[in-house]
Amino acid sequence: MQQVLWSEEYAVGNEQIDSQHKSLFEILNKLRISISNKQEKRYIDKNIMELQHYTVMHFSAEELYMSDAMYKNMDKHILQHDFFTGKIKELDPANDSNSVDTKIELLEFLTEWLFNHVLTEDKKAASFILT
Ligand SMILES: [Fe+2]
Repeated sequence: MQQVLWSEEYAVGNEQIDSQHKSLFEILNKLRISISNKQEKRYIDKNIMELQHYTVMHFSAEELYMSDAMYKNMDKHILQHDFFTGKIKELDPANDSNSVDTKIELLEFLTEWLFNHVLTEDKKAASFILT
């Protein structure tokens, strides 16, 4: 998989959320590269923790905006966030039984999923909130 990076096409129009999306894609890329290069477990585990913490922080920020704006599709949107955080748990160092290939596949899936989520659901939410 090519290095996929955030570009203007993914902008939802809120500086804070756009910058968090950018960081989230960078963390996903960094983690995928560290796993495929078989870097030290300690370093990989640190990146997994960073992905988990950053995702929780980012989704909370989005959900706060949606709740303040009484966004009508908020429940559906939160279910999608919960799906993503659930998938990330499969990478948890505490239950580390997946092969390198499985982990890479999962990270590719998460990256694709996030791009689609930003392009569709986040853009929809942002256009509701910002208008
Ligand atoms: Fe979202």
